[in-house]
Amino acid sequence: MNSTEDLFAQLVALETEGVRAFRQASTAELAEAARIEYLGAKNGRLNVAKDALKSLPAESKREYGQRFNLVKSALESAWAEARDGFKAATVDPDSDGIDVTRPGAPILVGHKHPLTQTTEELVGIFGKLGFSVARGPEIEDVWHNFDALNIPQTHPARDPSDNFFTSKSTLLRSQTSTVQIRVMEKQAPPIRVIAIGKVYRPDETDETHSPMFHQIEGLVVDRNITMADLKSTLRLFARTFLGEDVKIRFRPSFFPFTEPSVEVDMIWHGGQNWVEMGGAGMVDPDVFRAVGYNPEEVSGFAFGLGVERLCMRRFGIRDIRQFYQNDLRFLSQF
Ligand code: DAH
Repeated sequence: MNSTEDLFAQLVALETEGVRAFRQASTAELAEAARIEYLGAKNGRLNVAKDALKSLPAESKREYGQRFNLVKSALESAWAEARDGFKAATVDPDSDGIDVTRPGAPILVGHKHPLTQTTEELVGIFGKLGFSVARGPEIEDVWHNFDALNIPQTHPARDPSDNFFTSKSTLLRSQTSTVQIRVMEKQAPPIRVIAIGKVYRPDETDETHSPMFHQIEGLVVDRNITMADLKSTLRLFARTFLGEDVKIRFRPSFFPFTEPSVEVDMIWHGGQNWVEMGGAGMVDPDVFRAVGYNPEEVSGFAFGLGVERLCMRRFGIRDIRQFYQNDLRFLSQF
């Protein structure tokens, strides 16, 4: 049985593969074969995708239907374009049998890596919510990676075997929370920023772990910011990114730089299991003191989510390693 998530991912693949098949068809016969495969009345893949609607839970049907219609019109216009191209083709009697009106071989244009697409989408969504983008270095000092974030000297996160130290006091940053500190050191409140970038941890590589991955960090500081602001911001984000049927859950947790802290889970498209997306909380007063803010005057929230995880859930990708292998069979699907 296909899960709801799989069915949505299959729709995405159907559009990419179908449009490509029509564009790459170099003869009328190949275009017709693609038409039968994708738009055929009986077992065409579009019709199979339409039948899948019946097996979906009620709450996902509407969104599936809407996306299905977009895929359908994309495939139909790709087919019409291929067909018209061949219809116009005629052989000029003076041309030695070379049909000069035939469309040329299609030029394959490269496109953006799925993580780049996701990053741009995240910047766009948070941009509309009023967030600007901040950056920080990937080689960090222990002040920004640990001390200012209220991580005690004895905390296991500082363990040399859990970090890539480049000297006694510098390391490849293990979290984008470093950028929170860099922004607050430079600028007075109000603050509303996100930071997206690479982070590094010497984890064993497997389907869900990589020694380098990406995080998106958010920070809002102003007078009277509350947990309600955190919740509504993340809920608004989740709805825009994953769809109206998303549910979001906050579980009590602990991070040294937030108090209280929560773990953020999401579930959508009738999925069975809550998916952990990252951590969040209200900025700890000690963090404000470290950057010279007065915790009596301002409050704020922060969050950190995994970009690969968001992207994998979005496209139905199951193995994080595929992002970094540069295999065109994988990359050309996005
Ligand atoms: N930095 C945390 C990590 O890498 C994630 C995180 C948790 C970021 C809570 C935050 C936060 O900004 O408030 O595991």
